[in-house]
Amino acid sequence: MGSPSALPSVLVAGGAGYIGSHTAKALLRAGFQPVVLDNLSTGHRTAVNYGPFYEGSISDAALLGEIAAAHRPVGAILFAGYIAVGESTQNPSKYFHNNVVEPMQFLDHYRELDLPQNVVFSSSAAVYGIQGSDPIAESSPMDPLSPYAETKLFFERVLRWYGSAYGVKSACLRYFNAAGADPDGELGECHGPETHLIPLALAALTEGAPLRVFGTDYATPDGTAIRDYIHVTDLADAHIRALRHLMNDGSASFVANLGTGTGTSVREVIQMVERVAGKTVPVEYGPRRDGDAPALVADASYVRELLGWVPQHSSLESIIRTAWAWHTREARR
Ligand SMILES: NC(=O)c1ccc[n+]([C@@H]2O[C@H](COP(=O)([O-])OP(=O)(O)OC[C@H]3O[C@@H](n4cnc5c(N)ncnc54)[C@H](O)[C@@H]3O)[C@@H](O)[C@H]2O)c1
Repeated sequence: MGSPSALPSVLVAGGAGYIGSHTAKALLRAGFQPVVLDNLSTGHRTAVNYGPFYEGSISDAALLGEIAAAHRPVGAILFAGYIAVGESTQNPSKYFHNNVVEPMQFLDHYRELDLPQNVVFSSSAAVYGIQGSDPIAESSPMDPLSPYAETKLFFERVLRWYGSAYGVKSACLRYFNAAGADPDGELGECHGPETHLIPLALAALTEGAPLRVFGTDYATPDGTAIRDYIHVTDLADAHIRALRHLMNDGSASFVANLGTGTGTSVREVIQMVERVAGKTVPVEYGPRRDGDAPALVADASYVRELLGWVPQHSSLESIIRTAWAWHTREARR
């Protein structure tokens, strides 16, 4: 809860999570008041430090009404969702409910609220499935290979139709691999269970259980899979630019990749972790995992041109240094 701010407010749904908390911090720095709505299903109350907090679900009409009355947000950023691809194939109901049904209820309540209808949505490169080794443009074919990926594509389409029918303006941002931590050390990545390579590699260093690497026989230079890692602070900046763009009169909804355009292999990540931490990562190499693409690298030219967004923190070294600093600090707590 909180009192109204002189700054224009932005509703950050899922703002107690990894990317949402970094974006809340960046919003405040950019002159907006973040108002976080989060049910803390996977997020952390300790990550909400930059403005009012409302605990609850994004589908809670009464709570949305309360937030609208108190803060009159100029837009909403929708991070809230479940993110574990593997779990989504085991339990698709959980994912379709939380990543499609609840966000649709959110939109239906939100458009009743007489607020500017600007919505930035966390989509994912998972919508593309497995592609060739060329950088992936927004026009590349889509092939969602998991219920998680289906939910992202489905909700993008919901937003498109809500745009043409009800005037909801949206930016669907297809993140490649979010990574790194707040350069000031205030925030970091803390998923439970963790499925992302970099925090798992760091945990292997501090906890000793080996990092499991899936596949060493891909047709890539060192045989391991290639991904496009983008620093979470750069992602946060892109959300603010996207929101500002939507707030301009005459701008239109858009869908954009958020990546650096540079591919990094699993082995290169491990080598950088070892260089930064000064220790050897214990690794267990195994066979490929079903559904994993050999390479996923963004063609990010569209977003650079549209929003003037240029990643500032996304060198592999900066990603690993910030993640390691946060990890070692958390491990000491
Ligand atoms: N982390 C990545 O690399 C990555 C890549 C592509 C897309 N994304 C998408 O970005 C978004 C944020 O990812 P993240 O890594 O920060 O995840 P996260 O789990 O850290 O954050 C999600 C937040 O949403 C909250 N939440 C979930 N369902 C909710 C609901 N129904 N009502 C209210 N709050 C709810 C959780 O408590 C959590 O705080 C997700 O939608 C995810 O699918 C993430």
